Amino acid sequence: MARHLVTSALPYINGIKHLGNMVGSMLPADVYSRYLRQRGHDVLYICATDEHGTPAELAARAAGLPVAEFCAQAHDAQKAVYDGFQLAFDHFGRSSSPQNTEITQHFARRLHENGFIEERAVRQVYSPADGRFLPDRYVEGTCPHCAYDKARGDQCENCTRVLDPTDLLDPRSAISGSTALEVRETTHLFLLQSRLQQEVEAWVALHEEQWPQLSSSIARKWLTEGLHDRAITRDLEWGVPVPADTWPQLAADGKVFYVWFDAPIAYIAATKEWSDAAGDGGTRDWRSWWYEADDTVRYTQFMAKDNVPFHTVMFPATELGVREPWKKADVVKGFNWLTYYGGKFSTSQKRGVFTDAALETLPADYWRYFLIANAPESDDSSFTWEHFAATVNKDLADTLGNFVNRVLSFSRKRFGDTVPAGNAAGAAEARLGEETARLLAEYEEHMEALRFRRAGAALRALWSAGNSYLEEKSPWLEIRTDPEGAALTLRTAMNLIHLYAIVSEPFVPASAAAMRGAFALESDTPTWVTPGQAASLDAVPAGTPFTVPPVLFAKISQEDLESFRERFGGGGA
Ligand code: MF3
Ligand code: ZN
Repeated sequence: MARHLVTSALPYINGIKHLGNMVGSMLPADVYSRYLRQRGHDVLYICATDEHGTPAELAARAAGLPVAEFCAQAHDAQKAVYDGFQLAFDHFGRSSSPQNTEITQHFARRLHENGFIEERAVRQVYSPADGRFLPDRYVEGTCPHCAYDKARGDQCENCTRVLDPTDLLDPRSAISGSTALEVRETTHLFLLQSRLQQEVEAWVALHEEQWPQLSSSIARKWLTEGLHDRAITRDLEWGVPVPADTWPQLAADGKVFYVWFDAPIAYIAATKEWSDAAGDGGTRDWRSWWYEADDTVRYTQFMAKDNVPFHTVMFPATELGVREPWKKADVVKGFNWLTYYGGKFSTSQKRGVFTDAALETLPADYWRYFLIANAPESDDSSFTWEHFAATVNKDLADTLGNFVNRVLSFSRKRFGDTVPAGNAAGAAEARLGEETARLLAEYEEHMEALRFRRAGAALRALWSAGNSYLEEKSPWLEIRTDPEGAALTLRTAMNLIHLYAIVSEPFVPASAAAMRGAFALESDTPTWVTPGQAASLDAVPAGTPFTVPPVLFAKISQEDLESFRERFGGGGA
């Protein structure tokens, strides 16, 4: 048994996430955590909302709420959706927690003591009309690269170039619209990442072997370009305050840390929230996961590719510069993009399927399975309603759901409410057992290696193997001439259902519970089965009472499909 720390990139607070966000971070982290828990490991899956920065302040302003109130509500709204998706976090915290203030300030003090933070005077956009500096998105204007006239101070949405507010042409305040802007000098803290370049390189070299290629190639690209010192404070109301004991003047000026400085530290702080929530002073020991954690803790991070530089380079630089034994990632699992009909999912343009709307449309298992089986791993992948409907109908409704219902209802009709005995297993069952063991081993191998698409393919192959066996034996014909043989077929198929309940749980937890719940077995905590045990297909003995669960997956009709396309605006491509 190992200890597994799992985190997924912290979803930004300013809105409900779309399916692309879900498949690139939280969902695979949940699937992996569920798998590990079932295998008996000690797993801690931590996530939180990322609440600081200008987008949060601007979204609160747009909602007409004080930012603290806006964030509290938005946090609960996101949490409700994640509960709906059955994301089994051990804790879903908030980067605005007191725990994060404490740990972020501690990190900053240590970095300062170790000579990695410096105060620098910078020239910044100031708005006399608003009486404040305008960082990042608080300035809008024309992009100097592509002439897009709604470019934001941090980035141009049109050409994706990263910008500084002072780069914009015809700048205006995003608050008041004032164009009477000035450039004034002010002091900010800079993290001297350039001094940590070699250490980060060495750290990456030591770990990248365990990372998917996507993560290491992004890390390498950033290291080749060289680590630049970067400003880690902002003139904002909402954020972790710069500690007055170390920087009295900056604290008096009301500077807070930049959101990307405190957000990754919130992985640690949210773990402390988890400890503190127990309030029993001991059973949940956040430090044992993060501080001087021994080699038994394996830390896996999940995120989309735009977040990979922060996790492979910038946050490790921070952790290294602190000069304390904080746990660093062992594996950084990065994902490509999920597109919507080949185009971008866009939060600002409301293009694509958002997670709340998805759940209002169909149960979580449908989404979970489709998304993970088509995870954008080696390449971007595309969501289309046609592909989604075909996958649900074929894999979930026909292959898995139909198998379960057909076997259980037919057996009940012919043999009553308990698993029938029948003949002893023969050659067909031996072949099926071998095939099952082989596919289960394959599934395990892909899960361990975080290859989700291929794990999904192995799972689907396990379901198909059951269908082939059933077709081959055809118990509905067999029963006419050989009832004992038909009973054996059904008992074997029921054992497959039980196995499916266990191995499908990470992908489709609700359906797995329904399958597992069909059998009145003594222990009802499903534990993993080894390929060897799976081969014998005898976990559910003859005589076990069972019930027939309601249809597991409803098919998506042509009519449904058309209504989804219409409602969500698909098919444009
Ligand atoms: N909120 C960021 C995003 O949505 C991710 C933050 S991940 C963490 O891209 F490292 F900051 F935690
Ligand atoms: Zn541009």
